[in-house]
Amino acid sequence: MADEIANSFLNDFAKTKQGNDTIFSCWARYQQAISDGHDAVNGTIGALLENDGSLAINQTVDRFVRNSPPIEIAAYAPLKGLPEFLDLAVTLALGDARDELESIGVHHTATASPGGSGALYLAAANYADRGSKVLLRDRHWGPYDGFLAGCGLEIATYPLLGESAGVDIDSLKSQLDELSSSQNRVMSWLNDPAHNPTGLSLTAEERMSVLRAFVDAAMSNEEVGYTLLIDAAYHLYAKEPHGWAETITDALHDGMEWPANLLITFAISLSKSHTVYGLRGGALVTIHPDQAVVDRITTVMGVTGRQTWSASSRLAQYSIAKIHSDQESGAAWSDEKTRLTEILQQRRDLFIAACDKYGVPINPTHDGFFAWLEHHDAKSIVEKCASDQVYLVPLNGGVRIGLCAIPTNQIERVAKSLSKALQV
Ligand SMILES: Cc1ncc(COP(=O)(O)O)c(C=O)c1O
Repeated sequence: MADEIANSFLNDFAKTKQGNDTIFSCWARYQQAISDGHDAVNGTIGALLENDGSLAINQTVDRFVRNSPPIEIAAYAPLKGLPEFLDLAVTLALGDARDELESIGVHHTATASPGGSGALYLAAANYADRGSKVLLRDRHWGPYDGFLAGCGLEIATYPLLGESAGVDIDSLKSQLDELSSSQNRVMSWLNDPAHNPTGLSLTAEERMSVLRAFVDAAMSNEEVGYTLLIDAAYHLYAKEPHGWAETITDALHDGMEWPANLLITFAISLSKSHTVYGLRGGALVTIHPDQAVVDRITTVMGVTGRQTWSASSRLAQYSIAKIHSDQESGAAWSDEKTRLTEILQQRRDLFIAACDKYGVPINPTHDGFFAWLEHHDAKSIVEKCASDQVYLVPLNGGVRIGLCAIPTNQIERVAKSLSKALQV
């Protein structure tokens, strides 16, 4: 009855919104176990925790945020973002390849956004036709579904892994073919490197094959506009943080023609790289060989931000740009990021070794915050682990193991619990 009354106010899309976010409800369960006095392990949340369970905070960032002048906290940011921050966002997306790409005529534009989520929204709102399908891998970050549905978009998928445990390039190509024949615009989102939820990173060769698949599709269908979005939410914790910019540079040097109907865009998030999850900093960085194209995109994205959230957080933009404007503070941020990357690497190495020891068939996993166990009944695995006081997240097709949250000395216990859960 109460539902019926509520529904009388809600539109059809609002009515599809159900329940709690799975990840946050798993985290709540872990917290309940702790307050009930259990010796519980938290493998639930997507935030990097120190081994004592506290949130890892990059102290350089914290210092710069706290010492920001009142005006930088209180004032609006320019609608498209602070110029110094937009410039930094391009460097965060392209790394050292930036200069080279600029010198060979690749142009860029950046728009500030509330986190990487805001950047994904900007892309969803503008780079695909309502009612069309956006191409994802079948294992992807759950909120993608909602961002896309909210913009009237549907989803097409291809498998995370092919036969050889690398990117499933044949399925990607056949999906691109199919979408190219039925849509005027084709957008694909790829969370790489350090994929959530698996920790997978493509190799340089795989990146090149993916890029070629998009270039070939664009060359063969000149009337269709293609957008390849690289979701770089975790890239600065990966071994090849700017692999995509390097692959694009290599391809252009090898003589690849950049088709005019192909756009490449990066969703940048400061949440993890700068440990400012709550400050909501991010940007959408788009590159293309034609300056007029990026100029037009600058306008469209600025207007979209204005019509959605007004301006993004000035404090996030100001403080992070300030850190990177100075060599000493930039290096201090980087040292801390290296320390955090090493914690993740140590946990991952231990987890891979322990899974090997206990016969847990985890997916290939390389970088970032997560590891993944593919399983048809993820919920039952997660329940069995919960009875050992090991809390993980059941998602579509498998179990997400939040290495980012698990204390290093509890990693073996998680692998053991998974092994037990798989046996019973
Ligand atoms: C795959 C992926 N993309 C994007 C984001 C965006 O993060 P935020 O909006 O906090 O910057 C996240 C955060 O968890 C993520 O996991």
